Order: sequence, then C-alpha cells, then structure tokens
Amino acid sequence: MTVQDTYNTLKERLRDVVPDAELRIKAELAYEINRLKTERNAVILGHNYMEPALYYSIPDFVGDSLELSRKAAQTDKDIIIFCGVRFMAETAKILNPGKTVLLPAEKAGCSLAASITAEDVRILKSRFPGVPVVTYVNTYADVKAESDICCTSGNAASVVRSLESDLVIFLPDEYLARNVAAETGKRIVFPAKGDTEEDFQMIGWEGRCEVHERFTVEDIVNVRKQFPDVVVLAHPECSPEVVEASDFSGSTTAMERFVRESKAPRYLLLTECSMGDNVAAANPEKEMLRLCNIRCPHMNQITLEDTLEALRKTQYVIEVEESVRIRAARAVERMIAIG
Ligand code: 13P
Ligand code: SF4
Repeated sequence: MTVQDTYNTLKERLRDVVPDAELRIKAELAYEINRLKTERNAVILGHNYMEPALYYSIPDFVGDSLELSRKAAQTDKDIIIFCGVRFMAETAKILNPGKTVLLPAEKAGCSLAASITAEDVRILKSRFPGVPVVTYVNTYADVKAESDICCTSGNAASVVRSLESDLVIFLPDEYLARNVAAETGKRIVFPAKGDTEEDFQMIGWEGRCEVHERFTVEDIVNVRKQFPDVVVLAHPECSPEVVEASDFSGSTTAMERFVRESKAPRYLLLTECSMGDNVAAANPEKEMLRLCNIRCPHMNQITLEDTLEALRKTQYVIEVEESVRIRAARAVERMIAIG
C-alpha cells in the first residue's frame, strides 16, 4: 500500500467528514505508522472515540472497551499500541505481561479512573465484608486488584446478574451503577453520601465521567423540538434521567450497531463527539447530530503524530507491578469469560 492508496481509502470513507488538505497530511502519517507497525510486529487497538482519520487508517481492531480487552487478550504481536486512554492500555498490559504496551500520549487519563483509589475500595470492603466487588474497567490496576470482577458498559448488567449474591458493591461510576440498578431491579445506596436506607442490594461510589455527566434532559428536549423524528442514543455513563429520556442506551459499539441496523434518518449521539464523526462516515445516508462542545480531553490527546512517535521511540511504556497485575488479571479474565 502506498501513501496514495492510504489517501484514497481515507478519501472514500471521509470525503464528507474531513477536509481534503487534512486528509493528505493524515494519509502520509498513517502510511508511515502502518509501515513501522509491520516492521516492529505491533498491533494497534483503537477505541471508538478516536478521531476519524486515525480511526479509519491505522487500527487493526476498533471497538468498545470490552471488544478491545478481548483483542488484547488474543494478540500474538510483540507490541500493543493502545489508541485510547491509560486504563485501557493498562488492561492490555494486565492481560499481556510479556508484551510491550504503549500509550501514545503520556497523560491520557479518565475522570472515572481518577475518582477512586485502592484504599477507598479496601475501606468499603472492610465495611461490607464478604460482599463481591464489581469495578468498571475505567479504573487503574490497583483498584482492579481489589475487585472480584470487572465490567464494561457493554456487560455491566450481565456481570451483576452473574454474581450469586444478594448484595453487590459496584464502583466507581455513580450513573452507570444507577442505570444498572434500574435495569436489574436493584435498590442502590451511596454510603459516602450518607445514605441510611436499610433495604438495598447495590452499594455505589460517587465517580462521574466528566463528559457524559454534562448531557441533560433539556438537551434532549431541545433537539427533539427542532427535529421531532430524531432517535436519541445515550451512553450508560449519562444520568438515569438522560438514559430514561433517550430511545436507546448502550456501550459505544452498541450505539454504533444500533445506528447501522436502524432505518431512521436522524440520530442524536450523547457521547464523545468524534464517535459521531466515525458513525456518520460509516452511515452517509443518515444524519448524526451531536453536542460537540462536550469533549473528552483525554481521548482527544491521542493523535496520529503521537502514535508515530510512540512507534519510533517505543513510548510511553505501560508497566504494572506484578503482584498487582496478578490480582487485577483475575478480575479482568473473569469478566472476559462472562462476555
Ligand atoms: P465503552 O466501553 O462503551 O467504549 O466506553 C468507554 C468509555 O470510556 C466511555 O466514556
Ligand atoms: Fe473517561 Fe469519560 Fe473520557 Fe470515557 S469519556 S475516557 S469515561 S472521561
């Protein structure tokens, strides 16, 4: 494949989404990344939130957190480059201790992962001894190591249902926990908020996604007023009120699939804006509305330029201390086994 071939492929997919001059620059970067990727026996995993020129040119696999964890567990390449955020690259390292895992931007974090520490989990476990702990994959390795099982937005309700326990600790996303509680018919409490209810089946934490917490029911009402036929899709990190006011809620891949398989002409995606570009490019006959003043500053740090630098300089290497990794791997592998 030449630079011109790379440009042609991008042009065909993104002609209505990315200006031509930008596509030419990005095609050169993508060509060089793909050449080096083969030379260095690397695999590139790209989250659904990656910007369109990157998303459609360099990843060997794209998807949501669950799909990418599965791909990370299966790869036989020497190097894994994670075009996503740190907790995702860490999960790949947890599953592949012998491989080099690279994150192209050193500080690509996540407000959910930053919302809880391993010590917080230990304190909760001592307050509720014997209660199984489910942690969202949007956490760091030491928090996963304190957990019994992980989950993603794609399997959270199935993971909770799989536990043979009347009571479950679900961390750290308050809104995902409330949405899962609603879906599974459980009553949830938040001890750190001073909840004193006596009859409950889930215990939550007060973490929030700094992107999804900002979408409101009013946003939906306003867009529906302007476009009465719009179909509204919300990520489960949105508040229960927003999820309730939407037509569909699911992981990033579930939303992408929903649009692909639906016939409606117009959609509102309440999630990171770049994903709207990617879904629009794959469904040119459908209109994708999105609220692009709300962006993920962490996912947006990953660029083609940084990915090329990551391959050239073997940076930034993700490490997880072995005693932590072994315990975290149990929780992640248990989740993958459930599906
Ligand atoms: P998904 O697992 O649905 O891709 O979500 C990851 C994420 O960070 C959403 O903000
Ligand atoms: Fe974290 Fe939210 Fe960004 Fe996803 S969108 S990486 S949950 S801050």
